[in-house]
Amino acid sequence: MQTSIAPPDLFLPIRNPDIEALHAATACYTTDPVVDAVLDLAGWPRARGRLLDPGAGDGVFLERAIARLTLASNDVDALADRVEGWEIHPDAAQDARIRIARHLENRGWRAATAKSAADRIIIEADFLAPGPIERRYSVICGNPPFFRRANLPERFKLLYAETVPEYARADILHSFLDRCTEVLTDDGVLACVTSDRWLFNQNASKLRESIGRRFGIAELTRLDPASSFYRPKQRTRGTPPRIHPVAVLLGSDARRTRPLTREPIEIDGPMTLAPGTVPLGSVAEVRIAPWLGPQGVFFLRASEASHLPLNELVPCVDTDDVTKEDTLRPPARVAVRTQRGSEPHSAVLAHLDSTLGALPPRARQTPRWAPPENWGPFPLNREALLIPRIAQRLRVIRLPAGVLPINHNLSVCSTEAGIPLDVLAAALVSDEAQAWIRQHAPRLENGYLSITTKLLRRLPVRIPTAS
Ligand SMILES: C[S@@+](CC[C@H](N)C(=O)[O-])C[C@H]1O[C@@H](n2cnc3c(N)ncnc32)[C@H](O)[C@@H]1O
Repeated sequence: MQTSIAPPDLFLPIRNPDIEALHAATACYTTDPVVDAVLDLAGWPRARGRLLDPGAGDGVFLERAIARLTLASNDVDALADRVEGWEIHPDAAQDARIRIARHLENRGWRAATAKSAADRIIIEADFLAPGPIERRYSVICGNPPFFRRANLPERFKLLYAETVPEYARADILHSFLDRCTEVLTDDGVLACVTSDRWLFNQNASKLRESIGRRFGIAELTRLDPASSFYRPKQRTRGTPPRIHPVAVLLGSDARRTRPLTREPIEIDGPMTLAPGTVPLGSVAEVRIAPWLGPQGVFFLRASEASHLPLNELVPCVDTDDVTKEDTLRPPARVAVRTQRGSEPHSAVLAHLDSTLGALPPRARQTPRWAPPENWGPFPLNREALLIPRIAQRLRVIRLPAGVLPINHNLSVCSTEAGIPLDVLAAALVSDEAQAWIRQHAPRLENGYLSITTKLLRRLPVRIPTAS
């Protein structure tokens, strides 16, 4: 059988691989009902002013924004004064132009005029380099791209180092939000779909502060990741990445907005205490367990530690020692206890010297026998509760005295002369506590929650009074 190989198509436009990569990573388009809800949130159309979509994709926000305008036929200037979209990717920009032109034609515009209006509205360029700088938009709507700086093609890292302030570089979403709010008029509004992380992550604190000098949060609602997005047809099939999306409305009316500052925003409402409850931190000690680096150095299998002096070893546990029923298996590993201020036993030092090479640079300490993280005043003399830091619910596991939890799991124990551990354990597994954690803990992939010491200390618990 004869096979033929198609010759390369000499007439295909030359593709810029960096733009292709950026678009492939960020093109997660918004479904129509969410687009309409976001335009409603912005109060579009406003009587006057221009709407901008800074990363227009195939133009869905622009088309639906135009659909809400009363237009004089074939008046390109009037329409281009009301809506504008930026898009870096040539095919997406072309899709947006076709979509807008078709919409106008359906409203009775001449084909050639509709096409030139669409050409004016869609600016095929990078929104950040150099991008617009004048304050000329009164409404900004869209679903700006999100992508961590570390993963951006090098070319964009270099470009944005010139055009984006340092505090807004950690993610392209931060860069977009910074630029969008810079080009928004003083009485303007921004209504966008974003990932929720910039609202509370530490690496966005300066961004929040900077935006907060001119704008506050007027509305904030969670969106359903499963029904809010889709991948454009040329992309691989499958579900879009989970991004914990929210619809956010920023505005400048101080009477109607929550201030935006360096402080993290609590998306699911303020953490008020229900009557009859107290914060866990007021009745118990909540601690984070030390991270001791990879297994084999500062902690190892007990069976491999027989050459080390017993009084320098402490049994230790991680979440893989916990059964499905939330009980602890007998510890199979031991941590090597060393003191920063005194050289350890020669056998311990020999063990560390032969294994320290396995530690990542961030784990290495001076003196070399000090563990990657301080054990702190761990209450090893008391029974405690082990709480896995990443879990789908609050899990509470009894931890015997003398056993060290490791790897940033949490522990809760009674304060001296405080509430009995059984009572704390019962309060922690109650439906009320579980519902509160589900509502307030940041969500991770696959239904997992991030449970931090700060959050756990604020958890309202109901402690029955002794009769
Ligand atoms: C999340 S999609 C949203 C598309 C559309 N607004 C929607 O909601 O369906 C983000 C779009 O921004 C574009 N984009 C990414 N970086 C850009 C940049 N620096 N300048 C302009 N557009 C960019 C991507 O190509 C992608 O089409």
